[in-house]
Amino acid sequence: MQNMKKVIVSAPGKLMLLGEHAVVYNRPCIVTAVDQRMSATLEILESTEFSLEAPDVKITGYKKPLKDLGKGEIPKGAKFVELAVLNFYKKYKIKSGIKITTTSAFAATFGFGSSSASTVCVIKGLSSLFAPKLSNKNLFDLSYKTVLDVQGKGSGFDVAAAIYGGTLYFVTGGKAIKPLAIKNLPLIVGYSGVKADTVTLINQVLTLAKKYPKFIKNTYDQMGILVELARKAMVTNDWQTVGELMNIDQGLLSALGVSGQKLEDMIFAARMSGAYGAKLSGAGGGDCMIAIVPQNSKQSVAKAIETAGVTCMDVKVNAEGARVEK
Ligand code: PMV
Repeated sequence: MQNMKKVIVSAPGKLMLLGEHAVVYNRPCIVTAVDQRMSATLEILESTEFSLEAPDVKITGYKKPLKDLGKGEIPKGAKFVELAVLNFYKKYKIKSGIKITTTSAFAATFGFGSSSASTVCVIKGLSSLFAPKLSNKNLFDLSYKTVLDVQGKGSGFDVAAAIYGGTLYFVTGGKAIKPLAIKNLPLIVGYSGVKADTVTLINQVLTLAKKYPKFIKNTYDQMGILVELARKAMVTNDWQTVGELMNIDQGLLSALGVSGQKLEDMIFAARMSGAYGAKLSGAGGGDCMIAIVPQNSKQSVAKAIETAGVTCMDVKVNAEGARVEK
């Protein structure tokens, strides 16, 4: 079913609001899509070649025959896209050559989920070039499989945010993906300048869980409770409660050993200058922190975060999910 030669798809990045780490182990989390988008251009080639340009992750002029997809040494920046193509081609028995170019509106270092967003763009793009339209759940399943093929671990929350957009209540592996009706999210995002590696941090928590299984299980249960409470508070715009719940969640994340000095400095700076609450966002160790702030303290909180950290970013949340641009 080949009706187009070229397509451009975009998908949003994400920010974890509450429930990280516990969501890897069958608990819920809340994630919001950010208006910084990843985009991919897909073009059908005459040859039977896979070609990738992804300058944001230092991939230029990367090419291989389709029969070698997934084989040999694959550069880090090419893994998600190459395995996305491999998984899609296998499932739908496609044999056409393809050229893919990805571009990002945000730096991969922010931890906004560029790998998952590009995986989603590629699979959505391939489905509009070759296959019958995939449902969002089909798109999720194939994209999530690709992410697991590359990194072995993860809940899939970032894949869901890239596909569905908005703010989602999400349970591991897509067992629940429920949009939350939230109009405005009074959020500020601070970047720590410290690089975090998600899989390393998941493994670090796993080591702790082997040593203190009962404590960690209880901590995950508590995190799940916070998510359920925050879900209710968010839909009634009770931001003071959401902030309080974030502060408690941050305490639990600290107990898991995934906070860091820079993050703590920024979190405290936010709280001391008027935020309702603040916490790290994502795997921890570095990347970003978030704060929920009353409108009248926005400026003072942003300034305090910037002084303690590296930058404060003006990020719009609740962004639209993956879409075909043209
Ligand atoms: O590091 P990030 O922003 O991709 O967030 C990871 C969140 C975890 O819960 C630790 C992992 C996951 O896949 O849910």
